[in-house]
Amino acid sequence: VMVEKQGFRHFMLKEIYEQPGVVRAFLEAYLDAADVINLGLPESLCKDVENIQIVACGTSWHASLVGKYLLEQVAGIPTSVQYSSEFRYAPPPLTANTLIIGVTQSGETADTLAALTMEKERRIGKSPAYQPRLLAITNRLDSSIASVAGQVIDTHAGIEIGVAATKTFIAQLLAFYLLALDLGARRQTLSEERLEEIVTGLRQLPAQIELILESQERYIQELTHQFTETQDFIFVGRGINFPIALEGALKLKEISYIHAEGYPAGELKHGPIALLDAKVPVVAIAMPGSVYEKAISNAQEAKARDSRLIGVVQMDDAHAEEIFDDLIPLPAVDELLSPILTAIPMQLLAYHIAARRGLDVDQPRNLAKSVTVE
Ligand code: G6P
Repeated sequence: VMVEKQGFRHFMLKEIYEQPGVVRAFLEAYLDAADVINLGLPESLCKDVENIQIVACGTSWHASLVGKYLLEQVAGIPTSVQYSSEFRYAPPPLTANTLIIGVTQSGETADTLAALTMEKERRIGKSPAYQPRLLAITNRLDSSIASVAGQVIDTHAGIEIGVAATKTFIAQLLAFYLLALDLGARRQTLSEERLEEIVTGLRQLPAQIELILESQERYIQELTHQFTETQDFIFVGRGINFPIALEGALKLKEISYIHAEGYPAGELKHGPIALLDAKVPVVAIAMPGSVYEKAISNAQEAKARDSRLIGVVQMDDAHAEEIFDDLIPLPAVDELLSPILTAIPMQLLAYHIAARRGLDVDQPRNLAKSVTVE
């Protein structure tokens, strides 16, 4: 398939702009007009699942951390997330009725394939409760992970050319939303009303992402003027947005070669705060919800160390306006769905910082789109 840039300077920017369409396509594929979720997962896979084990690498690992939050908080299923490369050489003791999920955009990442294959093999021949229940979340139906797992959620994002994952990440997040809602509905861990509320919120996301792209991209591009000399960045978030802070730092590292770290905001005081001064900007995600006040007070700790503070906040947040030096305002959104919106400025920030430095955004040094060797 020939994929073109269609007037965008880089594939990465084009793929960022494709995200509203990716969300629409995903919802169209798995959510019918009556709001019934249909991921096509058999009851044998989902029934009596007692715990979930996820293996992934890179950006897929970050999506999996959001997945853990959702599977635990929405569906009530204890979930662990491991780097595939670590899981392979120190697999946890076998547990019964475990759903194993391999998350990989390409479907070919060697470590993730090996981890899933190992998990399958060590369960074969064991008693029924230990039989492998495998699921792949991938953007490639024809991939190796799909054939190892047997069951697949196809993320339907279309081919991604930029090495730094953007639209496939958003699609992986959606897969976890629908999976958590599906499992939650089967186990009745969430009410009809709450389910409706979340589904209504999901349907608003494409227009909300469009609004962010229209209203914030220029501003974020302007903002990057300040960072021509910056050598370190800290990203913080809490709760469901902690993994988005990790992803923001990873995107920046990958394409701009600036040192960046993501932290859960409450951990700042346990080490990284020692790094902070006027030369180290802090990007803080502080969307309304259960951890808003905590995130704000953590941001204030950073401000007291003279860091430039960039807030990813909800529109018209007067309180945030007082604290942050720069604000990236996002549309109002249910806290549970906020990662889909907070991820967008992370991508734009990394993109524009790297593009301003004249770097090869689509083909960053030392990285490969798909890592098929260990
Ligand atoms: C490579 C890419 C990353 C990606 C990771 C996992 O390192 O550069 O962008 O997140 O592989 O890829 P996967 O295909 O397994 O999602």
